[in-house]
Amino acid sequence: MTNQAWLIKEAISEAVSQLQTASQANPHKLEAELLLCHCLGVTRSYLLTWPEKRLSNAESSAFFELVQRRATGEPIAYILGTREFWGLELAVSPATLIPRADTETLVERALEKIQQIQQPHILDMGTGSGAIALALAYERPDARVIAVDYSTDALDIARQNAERHQLKVKMLQSDWFSALAEQRFDCIVSNPPYIERHDPHLTQGDLRFEPASALSAGQDGLADLRQIIEQAPKFLNNQAWLLVEHGYNQADAVQTLFKQAGFCAVQTHQDLSGHPRVTVGKIDDDTAQ
Ligand SMILES: C[S@@+](CC[C@H](N)C(=O)[O-])C[C@H]1O[C@@H](n2cnc3c(N)ncnc32)[C@H](O)[C@@H]1O
Repeated sequence: MTNQAWLIKEAISEAVSQLQTASQANPHKLEAELLLCHCLGVTRSYLLTWPEKRLSNAESSAFFELVQRRATGEPIAYILGTREFWGLELAVSPATLIPRADTETLVERALEKIQQIQQPHILDMGTGSGAIALALAYERPDARVIAVDYSTDALDIARQNAERHQLKVKMLQSDWFSALAEQRFDCIVSNPPYIERHDPHLTQGDLRFEPASALSAGQDGLADLRQIIEQAPKFLNNQAWLLVEHGYNQADAVQTLFKQAGFCAVQTHQDLSGHPRVTVGKIDDDTAQ
């Protein structure tokens, strides 16, 4: 079937039917178009302008190979190698989580917290593709931003993204706070792994292809959050904030961890779908260590 020279419009409609057979839930036409753009190195407007253009045999077979990968469930972001976050096109790879739109809630809240601070010192823990750190550096060019991750492969991608957008973020390999002795920040943000080890979602959809080390955190999903929240006060200035993303059903447990660690003004914010997703807390004079 791929050993033929398709017209652009025919190739797209054949791809849509192959993707529909594989899953009922995806925006098939858009995905087919994005895959074809990727193959041909063109924009979508080119496809709309030249629907009658004939693809070469090589172009057709390269395109339908990608369609097959997508039909088996591989995330479109990994096939294309990019995902947009906060308006920035970011490289992603199977070493990084695919940034989620819901995580923009964390960025919005962090920007509010540092609004009044000149040259804020910001730490992003578990940066993956660099999404959160780069969004903050983009919005606050005066900030000094450090991003850490345990995975050197993820940090390579994060560095590429910083370079691509000419944003200044210091990327460090670190097991949470271990490489950060003696530093204090005005704001620490983190979207750590928080899925329960045996959560059935881990065997479904995009999650099957994403690194387990970016997703799951112990039996109850709270192992990394616990560690970050407990240790954060030693790395925060007075009046500084910690903001973490967590599971939709973890807000109560996370709020308790914040209070036990001595944070005040603890509050949870909802994501775009209305789920409790981001919990924040502040260090004040009485609790700073
Ligand atoms: C849920 S992903 C978040 C990625 C990115 N911040 C985002 O929002 O798209 C969690 C990240 O934490 C990193 N990570 C896991 N364990 C870590 C540890 N002990 N120390 C530092 N980073 C860790 C993973 O490699 C992964 O990149």
